[in-house]
Amino acid sequence: MSLSAPSSAAPLLAARGLVKFYGKTQVLHDVSIDVAPGEAHVVIGPNGAGKTTLFKAVSGEFPVDGGEIRFDDGNVTKLAGWQRVRRGVGRSFQVARIFGEMTTAENLIVAVEARERRTRGGFGLTFRISPRHGTLAEVRRLLDGLGLGPRADDPAKLLSHGDKKRLELAMSLALRPKLIMLDEPTAGMSPGDRTAAAELIDETRRAHGLAFLLTEHDMGVVFGLAQRLTVLHHGRVIASGEPAAVRDDPTVKEVYLGHG
Ligand SMILES: Nc1ncnc2c1ncn2[C@@H]1O[C@H](COP(=O)(O)OP(=O)(O)O)[C@@H](O)[C@H]1O
Ligand SMILES: [Mg+2]
Repeated sequence: MSLSAPSSAAPLLAARGLVKFYGKTQVLHDVSIDVAPGEAHVVIGPNGAGKTTLFKAVSGEFPVDGGEIRFDDGNVTKLAGWQRVRRGVGRSFQVARIFGEMTTAENLIVAVEARERRTRGGFGLTFRISPRHGTLAEVRRLLDGLGLGPRADDPAKLLSHGDKKRLELAMSLALRPKLIMLDEPTAGMSPGDRTAAAELIDETRRAHGLAFLLTEHDMGVVFGLAQRLTVLHHGRVIASGEPAAVRDDPTVKEVYLGHG
């Protein structure tokens, strides 16, 4: 079933009727999902439901076998992943290219400066010797916001797994796309770090009007973050709408939340 969604603004992302096969196995069955500007839309569902496949379809990692994807009022269904990135579709692992020899702070400086070059339409032929005014303050906010302050001067290759995830998230945020897709951003974090990461995502969304499409297992994080919630099950959308309404949906309780 489909619950009514709180949609007022024209959607930033509108995926309609997506179909994806891996060989003969159909993994996405007529999946539709909207993300409004500035909202966090969280996709949940059991392992194997098709969440990561949906993200890859939206980011353009492979062509879909059916359906249409519109972003920022343009049809991007046939565009390559890098072309979608240019239009503002952000995805953590594509942008989070961590340079191991550089420190945590230096990695973030590179990300912030890359964004500034892009938004100013520079040719990218010149490299700044010293960071732009404002970059260091922004990097400091990102570091502090993600609890990476004490790691600022450590080479990135020496960071723990959890800290690398935080740095990836910080780098995605630094690039400020229109939509950020995060596939299980808090996986492997302690409960305290999870809460902090969720707060940072929420703050960034509010401060910059960024839209997020996320998957997440931790229900505390889900209900703390989501303006909209979609449940995937066996590659189909079984419910989508306001989080509280989705949570109380009997089908959802039966197939998913009831198991937790
Ligand atoms: N590259 C692939 N080739 C074949 N099957 C795949 C591939 N990637 C995922 N699958 C299958 O597609 C289904 C959906 O997977 P996935 O999108 O990763 O689900 P989720 O992210 O919700 O756990 C699963 O049955 C999985 O085994
Ligand atoms: Mg997955």
